[in-house]
Amino acid sequence: MAACALLALGALCAAAVLPVHSFTSYANDFVNPHYMLAGNFSQSTTRAQQSIISAAEQLAAKGPWSVTFKNITPPSGDLHDYMSWAPYSWPDCSKAGNTTALTQEQIWTTCPYVTRDGQFNPDARLVNDVGSFSDLADAVFYNALAWALDGQASHAASVASSIQTWFIEPKTAMNPNLNYAQMARGPDGQTGSHEGVLDLKCMAKIVSGILILWEGNAPQWTMELDTQMKNWTTQYIGWLENADIAIQEAKAANNHGTFYYNQLAALQILVGDLDGARGTLERYYKNQFLSQISANGDQPLESARTRPYHYRAYNLAAMITNARLAAYIDYDTWNLTTSAGATVQSALNFAMQQSPGHETASELYSNVAAVAAAYGDANGKYAAFLLQHDGSSYVEDPAFLWDQPLSDSGLVRVTPAASSASPAAAKPSAAGGGKSGSEVPPKDSGAASWHPVRLGFFRGFVFATVPLIHLL
Ligand SMILES: *[C@@H]1O[C@H](CO)[C@@H](O)[C@H](O)[C@H]1NC(C)=O
Ligand SMILES: *[C@@H]1O[C@H](CO)[C@@H](O)[C@H](O)[C@H]1NC(C)=O
Ligand SMILES: *[C@@H]1O[C@H](CO)[C@@H](O)[C@H](O)[C@H]1NC(C)=O
Ligand SMILES: *[C@@H]1O[C@H](CO)[C@@H](O)[C@H](O)[C@H]1NC(C)=O
Repeated sequence: MAACALLALGALCAAAVLPVHSFTSYANDFVNPHYMLAGNFSQSTTRAQQSIISAAEQLAAKGPWSVTFKNITPPSGDLHDYMSWAPYSWPDCSKAGNTTALTQEQIWTTCPYVTRDGQFNPDARLVNDVGSFSDLADAVFYNALAWALDGQASHAASVASSIQTWFIEPKTAMNPNLNYAQMARGPDGQTGSHEGVLDLKCMAKIVSGILILWEGNAPQWTMELDTQMKNWTTQYIGWLENADIAIQEAKAANNHGTFYYNQLAALQILVGDLDGARGTLERYYKNQFLSQISANGDQPLESARTRPYHYRAYNLAAMITNARLAAYIDYDTWNLTTSAGATVQSALNFAMQQSPGHETASELYSNVAAVAAAYGDANGKYAAFLLQHDGSSYVEDPAFLWDQPLSDSGLVRVTPAASSASPAAAKPSAAGGGKSGSEVPPKDSGAASWHPVRLGFFRGFVFATVPLIHLL
């Protein structure tokens, strides 16, 4: 529907003759691997499953990614260091003489930089480690989800090779630190800022993907790769808990704080430190969370920003990820309340009532679906909202698979042919206990017997990432 609105072809879209839908990359998410591996999916999720497989294929084709592929070297002189520039930072060359005579490189180091909140400086993407990491996280997440759905070895192999290149392979591996993330430029800059810790916020997607392969005994996720990835993660957790800028980020009151805790908790889960993950999430719920939602459901720290609709949705995505990570380790947080007595549901209800103005309305949709799944939708309010704003697209959104139960508003009519082609027939074996529990590989041979049901109007799928402008 977003594509329809852009093309101003509303009438045509309503008639569903425009086949290509595009979906956004969620700021963050975590899907319980047990849910994916059990394969007990509602028939109404067939289209969402097709979207996931389609997204997985498109994302896999974009890789591989590595911090060593950038053309600009970090101040350390080591290309293996992750690097990004502060996105809302602009040069003020008024005192630097004839600016047209300055090269780009001279501007970066000689002109002082000033912050203009919400105004993205496009030249910050000349170094795009942040975009690469976002694509990597989506590729890992969707390919692991796709593997759980159809058991195709290629999906699991794609996850393994993406992880190997970004984190492990000596030639291309990222050093386990963010010392040069969201660097300030100018004569007083050239060091990372605490805001830069947010750059790796999608870690929960990566952890979700790895857990699916691990618990599903994917042969492509080898013991060696698992050990190496856990080693990298342990070192990076050390940085997240001890580096000065990381400690500052842990104290951020707004979405930065929320995302910090889901990054750290997800990584602790990955290395099996469940007590640590619980402690991390408790720190969030006993500190930042208490002040983030007012009695009326507003998120004042986000509403005060230049793009309030975006920032409310953004922090909601982080709060939802925290709640999902917590649920995975049997810590039920959905009903926890802020000092004002509000829950995540209050925040969503408030956000739903605000006009997006010129901002992107669709940013909120996955949050609506997530809240409906967590708290129930007894009156059908959330499904009605999604139907009204996203039309038939919401049942094709990948997240419709894991935001269950959620009414499909009657959009998906299951035919007998569709039900006999259940993906469950080919799903990987869910041992539940990971490699230590069982060494039985998934039955890849069975996967070939399942072909996604191609519905007549489902002819295209475009995986679109939101331009990375939501970084502060
Ligand atoms: C499968 O899911 C349905 C609907 O959520 C549930 O009623 C049923 O108990 C589940 N079956 C198993 C075997 O878990
Ligand atoms: C500024 O520098 C450019 C490039 O060297 C030159 O062409 C231009 O004449 C200079 N302008 C002034 C006002 O000095
Ligand atoms: C973990 O990685 C570090 C640095 O790459 C290496 O020195 C160390 O030997 C590794 N440890 C294990 C157990 O693999
Ligand atoms: C939240 O509390 C309500 C009412 O006390 C309860 O029915 C519901 O199951 C709880 N939800 C979660 C997700 O724990």
